Amino acid sequence: KQNYRIAVLPGDGIGPEVMAEAIKVLDAVQQKFGFTLDYQQYDVGGIAIDNHGEPLPPATLAGCEASDAILFGSVGGPKWEGLPPEKQPERGALLPLRGHFDLFCNLRPAKIHPGLESLAPLRADIAAAGFDVLCVRELTGGIYFGKPKGREGEGEDETGFDTMKYSRKEVRRIAHIAFQAARGRGGVVTSVDKANVLATSILWREVVEEVAKDYPDVTLNHLYIDNATMQMLRYPAQFDVLLCGNLFGDILSDEAAMITGSMGLLPSASLNADDFGLYEPAGGSAPDIAGQGIANPVAQILSAAMLLRFSLKQEAAANAIDTAVSKALSEGYLTGELLPAEKRDQAKSTSQMGDFIAQAVLES
Ligand code: NAD
Ligand code: IPM
Ligand code: MN
Repeated sequence: KQNYRIAVLPGDGIGPEVMAEAIKVLDAVQQKFGFTLDYQQYDVGGIAIDNHGEPLPPATLAGCEASDAILFGSVGGPKWEGLPPEKQPERGALLPLRGHFDLFCNLRPAKIHPGLESLAPLRADIAAAGFDVLCVRELTGGIYFGKPKGREGEGEDETGFDTMKYSRKEVRRIAHIAFQAARGRGGVVTSVDKANVLATSILWREVVEEVAKDYPDVTLNHLYIDNATMQMLRYPAQFDVLLCGNLFGDILSDEAAMITGSMGLLPSASLNADDFGLYEPAGGSAPDIAGQGIANPVAQILSAAMLLRFSLKQEAAANAIDTAVSKALSEGYLTGELLPAEKRDQAKSTSQMGDFIAQAVLES
């Protein structure tokens, strides 16, 4: 197939700023590799609330359904935080999209780019040992989706409650993904849970052990979430594939992003069993820097590369983007949040980053 339809959902905050750069890079890819991408843009999140009165308008969902893949920016911000939870951008659009398309498999690859160890916030000897992990996060279950969820009672007796729940089959399918991924990488899966306290985690551990029997060539370790967060800082080089439930994966992936230098470097793919996917930066709408043209577009650009790789099977084009991003970073072409304060005057803007990476794709 040579013509693809991409649903483009920029969303809120820095979403539209970094999306513009990803589209620039995808335009370069089209020129270079000869296939065509038909972008169809839709409102989602806060902007959709403002324009259509709801965070996930029917036209947006229909547009996603009619596409080969979804390229998503980020949603949410202070403007919509006062709304009832189900009407907010995150609970009303992003989670329903993940649920609707059964995007249970969230892949978040984080690595310290070789030569860029000094950008990482860790001590030099720790960063020098390297860091290259794939966070495999279950995305459509756990405490995010478990029922009942809500509020009950009154006054000081009022309660808020969420339900953390996993079925064997939900754990099994994400565990298989982690073991298969480990085979193509360092051969080690670290499953993260809280099996010393939580019933969900005890089941999780049992099922992961069962699945491990199909992969005798892969080493399986278990860590409790609290230990895992500290081990990530103590010696991150020990990890290869991190297998996590929805909530622990959310937390650990932000930590993984920051170990590489910035939230703005971490892309993600959210896939279903048919490799249909939604591709988005792991970070959010960054209201603190939105509108200034300084956000790092790399996570959005690398998410576009994942879209080409997983949903469109355009591996060469995906690799060209990865290489172009590496070129920018290794040549010191960086946005400000990656730089120490005394070097901020050398920072590149969001659009300078996109221009450089698009150009590098064309010249590859
Ligand atoms: P955030 O990820 O938006 O920001 C955390 C910190 O990282 C901020 O200091 C921000 O400036 C920085 N950062 C994030 N992306 C960056 C980039 N590309 N370049 C440079 N710096 C970057 O998290 P938050 O502040 O907790 O959340 C803000 C809003 O985004 C909330 O409404 C939240 O719910 C939402 N959110 C949305 C998504 C999503 O749509 N996928 C993901 C996470 C958070
Ligand atoms: C992420 C985000 C989302 C999550 C929020 C915005 C619902 O933090 O993609 O990591 O918690 O999954
Ligand atoms: Mn998150």
